[in-house]
Amino acid sequence: MQEQIKNINSLEDLQSLYTATFGKNGTMTAKLKNMKNLDNDARMALNRENTELRELFRVRQSELENAALMAGLEKQRLDVSLNPMPENRGTLHPLTHALANVSAILESFGYEMWTGPEIEDDWHNFTALNTPEYHPARDMQDTFFLENGNVMRTQTSAIQIRSMEKIGAPIKMFGIGATYRKEMDATHSPMFHQIEGLYIDKNITMSDLIADVREFLKRFFEMDDVQLRIRPSYFPFTEPSIEIDMMWQGNKWLEIMGAGMVHPNVLHNCNINPDEYQGFAFGFGWDRLAMLKYGLNDIRKFYDGDVRWLQKTGF
Ligand code: DAH
Repeated sequence: MQEQIKNINSLEDLQSLYTATFGKNGTMTAKLKNMKNLDNDARMALNRENTELRELFRVRQSELENAALMAGLEKQRLDVSLNPMPENRGTLHPLTHALANVSAILESFGYEMWTGPEIEDDWHNFTALNTPEYHPARDMQDTFFLENGNVMRTQTSAIQIRSMEKIGAPIKMFGIGATYRKEMDATHSPMFHQIEGLYIDKNITMSDLIADVREFLKRFFEMDDVQLRIRPSYFPFTEPSIEIDMMWQGNKWLEIMGAGMVHPNVLHNCNINPDEYQGFAFGFGWDRLAMLKYGLNDIRKFYDGDVRWLQKTGF
């Protein structure tokens, strides 16, 4: 019996033998039932045998369980020589990257970053910007109107109003954020982004504007010098208004931003005295600048969420 237990190789067989020995009709059970008929020595011998057999079963059971565990582990063993799965690293979105650049430059010039709500009221998006109701310039932008009379912000110019209302003058800020217009093609997306600069103080002139813009563009595009072309333009919130073009790769003029001296009505609307303070504002497409810098040609790709495209842009 002892040998038999030691030689059993499966837990099922061990269990059967155990039942056959210690179960209700087991051989050992029968012997134990008969114990009262035995003499002292025989009883002690039977007791020893009982204890010994139980111990042998216990030991064999744990050996077999252990072996089964090891066999299982053996099968699942990791092959550490296998090449790991390629790591999928996240990248910064090109717009995030461009903003980090823009804000570092403007902040070094002393401009402070502001944001504002994307759902704007009529006052901040239009009226305070010298574009009252029925002003023809409202048609310059294809606005998404909400039922309650609010609009999806069409321009970050709304943020300059909020900042002037809050801080007054002097102020030197830039506003960033998403803007919305009903248009869509390779260079227009219904949701896009703008960045807007504003500098109001006592003796600010158009030359200060052009100097800041020039230095900004030089640093953003990492160029030794930039060639600018200033064209007269029209925006209701600036007077005079200009459009700034930049010579691109030595062969073409690109329209880069709108700008101008803040209209006295706008200052007045923000409780700033236009006889005491004046200043400039400029606004440009954040997406467009990023596209130029990184050589991208379809604005819609920024918002497709296509990880392969984002990775190709390589940040
Ligand atoms: N808000 C204008 C637009 O969306 C851009 C702009 C032009 C902003 C001139 C300005 C500015 O601050 O002075 O087309």
